[in-house]
Amino acid sequence: MSVLTVLGIESSCDDTAAAVLRWDGAAHVLSSEVSGQTDLHAAFGGVVPEIAARAHAERLDLMVELALQNAGVALTELDAIAVTAGPGLIGGVVSGVMCAKGLAAATGLPLIGVNHLAGHALTPRLTDGLAFPYLMLLVSGGHCQFLIVHGPESFERLGGTIDDAPGEAFDKSARLLGLPQPGGPAIENAAQEGDEERFSLPRPLLREPHCDMSFSGLKTALLRARDEVMIGGNQLKRQDVADLSAGFQAAVRDVLAAKTARALEAYMAHSPAEPALAVAGGVAANQALRAALQDVAAKAGARFTAPPLSLCTDNAAMIGWAAIERLRAGGSADDLTLSARPRWPLDTAALPMLGSGKKGAKA
Ligand code: KG4
Ligand code: ZN
Repeated sequence: MSVLTVLGIESSCDDTAAAVLRWDGAAHVLSSEVSGQTDLHAAFGGVVPEIAARAHAERLDLMVELALQNAGVALTELDAIAVTAGPGLIGGVVSGVMCAKGLAAATGLPLIGVNHLAGHALTPRLTDGLAFPYLMLLVSGGHCQFLIVHGPESFERLGGTIDDAPGEAFDKSARLLGLPQPGGPAIENAAQEGDEERFSLPRPLLREPHCDMSFSGLKTALLRARDEVMIGGNQLKRQDVADLSAGFQAAVRDVLAAKTARALEAYMAHSPAEPALAVAGGVAANQALRAALQDVAAKAGARFTAPPLSLCTDNAAMIGWAAIERLRAGGSADDLTLSARPRWPLDTAALPMLGSGKKGAKA
């Protein structure tokens, strides 16, 4: 098939998304619609799976219609229907898979179940045309892992968080400091006026020779540092919040940079023809982290890329793209027995992690 037009559907956490992608020798995002649910979950301090699933079920048809309309493409012009089949909050994934199955059954189009993480991991090929193999750091509210992307369905996991994801740590830490959600941008903002050396927070597992990381202890250390400032009934001053934010952000940055350097070493041993480090996920928006990663990549002789934020965070264009990659590589479609999977590791040969973010699978 020389031209492929694919509808992508994503509903694995708290974004209901649909997109239309076309491959004609070059990649085109014809439309990419995302309906977030932040407002629905705001009062609960996290994503409530039942509320998310219901909202997805209510919104999926509308988003699909909008994506087709904005792309100027009719259902009959599509070559395939792609949908996130996991990992994620099961109710949301089931909503998306049911919607995609309905469309596939009605149109007779091939159905393609996509791994959400593969969607993130393959995005740098959509946006920057990266050649295989490249190193990917996925760093979001629900995920944190290093992957060598060898091919459209070939991923080698080098390591990741053993407890909280960094975005989750940013969000929880912001709460401890009385800053608004999402915590990442709030902490980054406060840190601009802060002294990162006033509080020395831990850099867990830094000396260990592997690529695994831990972020939950960092949050506890921040809580202790905060409580020390507040001893004797002291109120947290603006400068205290700025310094605590700066110290926290520096610790996350240092751990991610050091482990990225280690992952790059393992990746470079594969002698890639065009060495590249790509980063994806909401935390990749952090400027201090980006600068540190850029530096680490340059030192290793690798190109550094980060997709634009709209394709870095959850979206359906990456799902449509992953399906196009599979079809171009000669992979086959799924059928109506496709099932939704709450857990679905990309690298089945890698040891399972102790945890992978408690906010639900999101990357
Ligand atoms: O990829 P994403 O939109 O999906 C989720 O995993 O939810 O990532 C959202 C996460 C949140 O935890 C948010 O606090 C974090 O990314 N984040 C940031 C920044 N912007 C968003 N973390 C650090 N610095 C930022 N500038
Ligand atoms: Zn994601």
